[in-house]
Amino acid sequence: MSKENLIEVKNLNKTFTKKVGRHFFNRKNVPIHAVNNISIEIKKGETLGIIGESGCGKTTTARMLLRLQKETHGEILFNGTDLCKLNERETSKFLPNMQMIFQDPYDTLNPGMRVVDLLMEPINAHMKGISHNEKIEIIKESIEAIDLKPAERFMYRYPHELSGGQRQRIAIARAIILKPDFIAADEPTSMLDVSVRAGILNLLLKLKKQMGLTMLFITHDLTTASYMCDRIAVMYQGEVVEVGNTEKIIRNPSHPYTRALVSVVTDLNHFIENRDRIILDGEVDATIEKKGCIFVHRCPFREEHCFHDPPSLVTQQGDHQVACSCLDKIPSGLPKDQSLQQQNSHSI
Ligand SMILES: Nc1ncnc2c1ncn2[C@@H]1O[C@H](COP(=O)(O)OP(=O)(O)OP(=O)(O)O)[C@@H](O)[C@H]1O
Ligand SMILES: [Mg+2]
Repeated sequence: MSKENLIEVKNLNKTFTKKVGRHFFNRKNVPIHAVNNISIEIKKGETLGIIGESGCGKTTTARMLLRLQKETHGEILFNGTDLCKLNERETSKFLPNMQMIFQDPYDTLNPGMRVVDLLMEPINAHMKGISHNEKIEIIKESIEAIDLKPAERFMYRYPHELSGGQRQRIAIARAIILKPDFIAADEPTSMLDVSVRAGILNLLLKLKKQMGLTMLFITHDLTTASYMCDRIAVMYQGEVVEVGNTEKIIRNPSHPYTRALVSVVTDLNHFIENRDRIILDGEVDATIEKKGCIFVHRCPFREEHCFHDPPSLVTQQGDHQVACSCLDKIPSGLPKDQSLQQQNSHSI
């Protein structure tokens, strides 16, 4: 494992099964390839973004990294240790060092517990041999670190006595209280009022700098990714189709799916100008049985071989990788009046 990486994910897969069919006796299990053979690296101290439309496997990937979900197969190296090979007791030693911030603070904070008790839980579980007063001091410090001051004003409140933004700040305090090296934030602002979103993003940037955190930041919003992430991995239907430096990808997207994503985001005009919009029809369908390129049914640049030969991620320049075997035939820049149609939808 490279010394500059904190995490290396190799050929990671997660397949769920789903029952389909209208009638009880005709129902059958179909596989859902939520995450399909992905390999990504997260460098120490960087923020890697995962972007992609709903259902493409972003949350499942993060949940496997944090060991909240077991993989079907694959490797997750954390500082050289393969987390997939550890038993429950060995895994629990790593857990304080990796924490997750979820989309909805309502779900993560027990409504029957006060802030002080919510923050005491991880301390009691993982910090042995310190006095009650020392624990209270750690709790106050973590509340002030998330800019709720003075801490005494907030620590004896219940979650329903806080605003949405304050609740997400407490969820962040819970994530940082054990001083982890790694945090995965899964769309941490998407449930919040627009007026408090920037505050939460800036808080995460501040904490990352102060604590030297490594982050995985999940979003379906490229503008947020461009603000938060050093590099981005673009996911489509369980696969990573492009990965590299955020600004380079936004200025010059290579994969046809990334081109479509970038073309519709008007807030990115500070990066790109005069782009025609490419509207994607259809949705991600993780039950489609995979044969060739995962994007073939929506791709205007596809060729016959794309239906049969799955492309792998190929390095273009530096650490920019793209999974498309037609790249040399695609004109650079975004085509005019191009619309990516779903030509061939699969239904069950
Ligand atoms: N526990 C589960 N059982 C069955 N299928 C699941 C389960 N969890 C996720 N899936 C399916 O796996 C696929 C990927 O889901 P995931 O939640 O990772 O997507 P996502 O990219 O995070 O989407 P969103 O942007 O909506 O949060 C979807 O098709 C989803 O329905
Ligand atoms: Mg999700």
